[in-house]
Amino acid sequence: MTIHFIGAGPGAPDLLTLRGRDLIAACPVCLYAGSLIPRAMLDWCPPSARIIDTAPLDLDAIIAEMQAAHGAGREVARLHSGDLSIWSACGEQMRRLDALGIPYSVTPGVPAFAAAAASLKRELTLPGVAQSLVLTRTSGRASAMPPRETLATFAASGTTLAVHLSIHVIDQVVTELTPFYGADCPVAIVFRASWPDERILRGTLASIAEQVREAALERTALILVGPALRAEDFGDSALYSAGYDRRFRPGGGT
Ligand SMILES: C[S@@+](CC[C@H](N)C(=O)[O-])C[C@H]1O[C@@H](n2cnc3c(N)ncnc32)[C@H](O)[C@@H]1O
Repeated sequence: MTIHFIGAGPGAPDLLTLRGRDLIAACPVCLYAGSLIPRAMLDWCPPSARIIDTAPLDLDAIIAEMQAAHGAGREVARLHSGDLSIWSACGEQMRRLDALGIPYSVTPGVPAFAAAAASLKRELTLPGVAQSLVLTRTSGRASAMPPRETLATFAASGTTLAVHLSIHVIDQVVTELTPFYGADCPVAIVFRASWPDERILRGTLASIAEQVREAALERTALILVGPALRAEDFGDSALYSAGYDRRFRPGGGT
């Protein structure tokens, strides 16, 4: 039997892939990270499913649940928020399953940064303004940052930053980024993107920390920083320009 790791998306139950939805519906056991996945997502489970919130469990207990289901011949849907490739803690689970010889599959999900950009109705890479997106975080109790992965290192590029897991240290983020971006650099904060209580704050590095305090935002918020958040005078991309000769439009547009 198989453990299906599924990226459950940013929160809205319909921001889930069809593959993820079908796997959840087919699995008699569902393990979900209750700190970030709304209960409404569990409506995709079969009515008789054994549903376990793993937020209060440690790794041994989570793996024990998977082992028990595997032994009983039951498939498991293992839900993590957003996509599995970033800050999902599924790497350590997969390593344990490899050691135990338990097979698993991996289904991607909509990451929080994509949901936040959609809420803002912004493209984060604009021609001539920013052509990279850095997904990063600050040190937390659960994971220290490798010494060379400082905000300053990434800020030196001047491109768009998506700073996760850091709303509680907004002052530190502002202090570290201001020398690189300037105090008037635009910042957007999306709290619980795609949830019913989603909130958006727009400001600058000079103003955003006070706005966060006034709004009393504490967790599950993404901090987006960089000139692409405000730029309006960027050039059109060559992709759709009339004279651009490319494989799918030989000789340019007509
Ligand atoms: C443990 S990480 C999980 C990231 C997730 N795997 C992803 O693909 O986005 C949790 C952090 O992601 C961000 N996050 C997750 N869901 C979010 C949402 N719906 N709106 C805003 N930020 C979110 C917040 O910065 C939060 O502290």
